Amino acid sequence: MTEGPLLVEEIVVEGSNPTGGVISVWTLNRPDKLNALNSESHKEIKKHCKNVESDDDVRCVVIRGAPPNDPEPGKKAKPPAFAAGADISEFVGKNSDDVRPFFEENAWEAVWNLSKPTIAMIDGFALGGGTELALSCDIRIASDRSSFGQPEINLGLIPGGGGTQRLCRLIGYGRTMEIVLSGKIISSEEASRIGIINKIVPHDDLESVTMALAKEISQKSPYTTKVAKRVVRGALDLPFSEGVIMERSEFVALFDTDDKEIGVQAFLERSDPRWLGR
Ligand code: COA
Repeated sequence: MTEGPLLVEEIVVEGSNPTGGVISVWTLNRPDKLNALNSESHKEIKKHCKNVESDDDVRCVVIRGAPPNDPEPGKKAKPPAFAAGADISEFVGKNSDDVRPFFEENAWEAVWNLSKPTIAMIDGFALGGGTELALSCDIRIASDRSSFGQPEINLGLIPGGGGTQRLCRLIGYGRTMEIVLSGKIISSEEASRIGIINKIVPHDDLESVTMALAKEISQKSPYTTKVAKRVVRGALDLPFSEGVIMERSEFVALFDTDDKEIGVQAFLERSDPRWLGR
């Protein structure tokens, strides 16, 4: 486990093949600031994205927020948060030249560009850059006490971490407009209803439900999961007719892998596949 604004822990995946598979669990660790993402958080997230890409053992990444610290005597407890956005204190007095380099190389894109599956495990506020970080993950699971929104409009800003684009593709134009233009905060129930999150669970079950899914994904062939992610992602970028051709070509190419033969044989023998990851 590292220290700082991002804690990284590796959870061993029993039954993973090739053996040694781990789930990399990243905890945004600024609970006193509701895990707001400052430049240091971005640097750490980008660094760990690089680490994950070069580490074959990592099968899946789970991103979460650190729970609130116990309050100091006489002070009120902070609420739980995934991340309450970009760190607004870093915006003071900055002009476009100051912020451009940071936003051109940001953590949201780094997470989005990971070739491995990613899950956001959300408990509490996921606002602004927090919603955007969750949207940069492939799957979002949230507790029943979470909330979402793009309140940048209240600061005279708009989302800058891909929120307008990813939300639009996920939930459509009208709903995205409402969220971006009103800056309103929506509950997990609403987020679940309109498709921002995949699943809503009681907060006590959030970790077990999320980690069970991460484990299930991590037990697949690490080669095939990357292909699956790449191909589904293609649906966001490609015209439909090209996407279908791309899928077919990737499907056909999988017939040259060891893992296709291993998977098919295991099915026929009613045994567990022992993937080679190639
Ligand atoms: N950036 C920097 N600090 C933040 C922050 C952010 N995005 N969100 C919360 N914090 C800090 C607060 O300044 C406060 O710090 P302090 O205790 O040192 O004063 C601490 O986190 C707790 O937040 P607080 O506002 O006191 O909690 P609350 O329960 O009253 O309200 C929110 C919670 C989430 C509604 C409120 O913090 C909020 O609106 N945050 C900003 C959300 C936002 O606009 N995000 C988009 C940014 S681009």
